[in-house]
Amino acid sequence: TDLPSLIRALPKAELHLHIEGSLEPEQMFELAARNNVALPYDSVEDIRAAYRFNNLQEFLDIYYQGMSVLLTKQDFHDLTYAYLKRVHADNCRHVEIFFDPQGHTERGVAFSDAIEGIFDGLEQGKKDFGISSHLILSFLRHLSEEEAFETLEQAEPYIDRILAVGLDSSELGHPPSKFERVYAKAREKGLKSFAHAGEEGPPEYVYEALDLLKVDRIDHGNRALEDDALVERLVAENKYLTVCPLSNLKLCVVDDLKNHPLKTMLNKGLKATVNSDDPSYFGGYLNDNYLRTAEALHLTKDDIVTLVKNGFDGAYLTAERKAELM
Ligand code: HPA
Ligand code: ZN
Repeated sequence: TDLPSLIRALPKAELHLHIEGSLEPEQMFELAARNNVALPYDSVEDIRAAYRFNNLQEFLDIYYQGMSVLLTKQDFHDLTYAYLKRVHADNCRHVEIFFDPQGHTERGVAFSDAIEGIFDGLEQGKKDFGISSHLILSFLRHLSEEEAFETLEQAEPYIDRILAVGLDSSELGHPPSKFERVYAKAREKGLKSFAHAGEEGPPEYVYEALDLLKVDRIDHGNRALEDDALVERLVAENKYLTVCPLSNLKLCVVDDLKNHPLKTMLNKGLKATVNSDDPSYFGGYLNDNYLRTAEALHLTKDDIVTLVKNGFDGAYLTAERKAELM
C-alpha cells in the first residue's frame, strides 16, 4: 500500500487536542443561534478568513472569542461528540483531550456544566464509535496560580475521572515555575502532570516543566532541540512529546512544513507523536497532520509506524485496551 493509505488505515491515538479548538465555524453559528450569542462574523467564510495568525497570541484571542458560544451542558456534549465523530473517520481509536475550564467559568458557565457535558460526549462517543478517552484539565497560564488552585478545587468531585493537569495559553512571560505549587497539589491528588513547553518559550521552560512541574509528558517541545543536553535528557527519561505540525505552521512556529523538526526529533531518539491541537483553527484533523507532514518531510513507512506506535505508548491505556489496539 502507498503511504497515504497506510496512514488512513492504521488505528491511531490523539494525545494533544483542545476540545474548544475543535469547534467548527458551522457549529459555532448553530450554537450562537441556539444561545442568542452575537458573533462578530457574518458567515462561515468570514470566520475562516479570520483564521490567519502570526503567533500564538493572535490565535488565542480568536480562540477565546470562539468559545463564547459554549454555554450549556448540551453545548459541551455536542462539541465533544462532533470531534469524536470526525476523528472516528480518521481511524482514531483513543484520545486524551484538554479542556480549558477557566475559559468558561470566567464567562459565568458552571464548571460542572462544562465537565459533565464533555464526559457525556465522551461516553456517547465510546458507545457509538468505540473510542476510548481521557480528559486533561488545563490551567490558563496567563492567569494567576491562585486562580489555578481555585480551578483544581472545583475539579475535586470529578478527580477520579480526570487523567492529568495541563498548562496552556500564552507561554512567553508565563513560565512553568509560576505553577509549581498547584502542580504539586495536583500530583498529590493522583493526577498526571503535562505542560505545553517549548512551543514559543525557550528551552529553559522545558527544563522548568521537568524539574519543577515534574511533567510526565511535554506538549509541543519544539524548542528543546536548541539544547543538546536537554534532548539527551528527554531521550534518557523517555518523555513523550505531543507534536502538532499544522498548528506549528499556522502559528509560525515553523515557516514551512518542510522545515518542521518532526523527522529530526525521531532521528535524535525523541518519542514524538503527531496530533492536531486545535483542528478547526489550524486547518486539519489527525490524518491531515500525518499526511501533510509525511509529504513535506518525505517520511517513510517505518517513520509512520513509529509515530503511530509512539501515540499508543505515550498514552495512558489500560493493559486490556492496549492489547486490543496494538
Ligand atoms: N498553545 C497554547 N495554548 C493553547 C493552544 C496552543 O497551541 N491551543 C489552545 N490553547
Ligand atoms: Zn495545545
